[in-house]
Amino acid sequence: MSVEDGDVPHDDGLIAPEVGAWAETKHRLVSLYATLFSSGMKAKWSRRVYVELYAGAGYSKIRSTSKFILGSPLLGLKLKDPFDKYIFCEEKPKTLNALKIRARQVAPDAHISYIQGNCNKRVSDILAEIPQGSPTDTVLSLCFADPFDISLEFETIRTLAKARYVDFLVLLALGMDANRNYEHYLREDADKVDKFLGSDSWRERWATAQWDAVKFTRFLADEFTKSMATLGYIPPPHYTMKEVRSLEKNLPWYRLALFSRHERAYQFWGQVLK
Ligand SMILES: C[S@@+](CC[C@H](N)C(=O)[O-])C[C@H]1O[C@@H](n2cnc3c(N)ncnc32)[C@H](O)[C@@H]1O
Repeated sequence: MSVEDGDVPHDDGLIAPEVGAWAETKHRLVSLYATLFSSGMKAKWSRRVYVELYAGAGYSKIRSTSKFILGSPLLGLKLKDPFDKYIFCEEKPKTLNALKIRARQVAPDAHISYIQGNCNKRVSDILAEIPQGSPTDTVLSLCFADPFDISLEFETIRTLAKARYVDFLVLLALGMDANRNYEHYLREDADKVDKFLGSDSWRERWATAQWDAVKFTRFLADEFTKSMATLGYIPPPHYTMKEVRSLEKNLPWYRLALFSRHERAYQFWGQVLK
């Protein structure tokens, strides 16, 4: 089977992880932004590169239904003005293999590099795949990070951002992970939040923030924004970090946030949010 068959994915026997229906909202937002970015930047940069740090299998299945949907990497491959290069990192070998097969069906001629492993550990290999560029061969990248939890380490972002021109679209798993594991993350010996924020001094600021009745999820979003600002990213207002709620329980599940060094990117994001 191929997705060209009417573009409706169905069971092809390969791995297709189950997801909540809210994944479709995420896909709509990401692929609309990627469309605006890719087409809008086509004439301005010599090459555009699309990077996914948590790429997945290319298909997912909506939980409790028989509906299969295209994953974000395949949506990125099917854009009207495709990127010049794609880099997909995925930890699980079987999942990455399924993505490879499906990507070949959707876009046989696309230039794609696959990196198997933990994106935080393999960041130098990811970086090496992004062309360095030059004044006569300019390269702009869009990096989408879509983790289940707050496992994306700030050091990973720093490594990419310091060496290349990269805009980041980051899923901040604040409700689905940080809030649920609050007690655990607060423990002195837990360093997950330290790594996520690239700082070990947040506990002092959190102690102060609680006096102002700030929610932990809001605190983390603000701290992450401050970390991005240290790399020259324009701090986006909190309301532009699009909240997506779990449809089953209507809980705030995550925020999808754009970080760029250029106002133009925020104008595109504004169009997506409309
Ligand atoms: C939410 S899914 C990605 C879904 C995909 N972006 C989409 O929308 O179609 C997260 C994926 O990241 C993978 N993963 C988890 N931790 C990872 C890590 N540290 N580095 C790379 N991939 C990871 C998981 O195996 C899973 O396939």
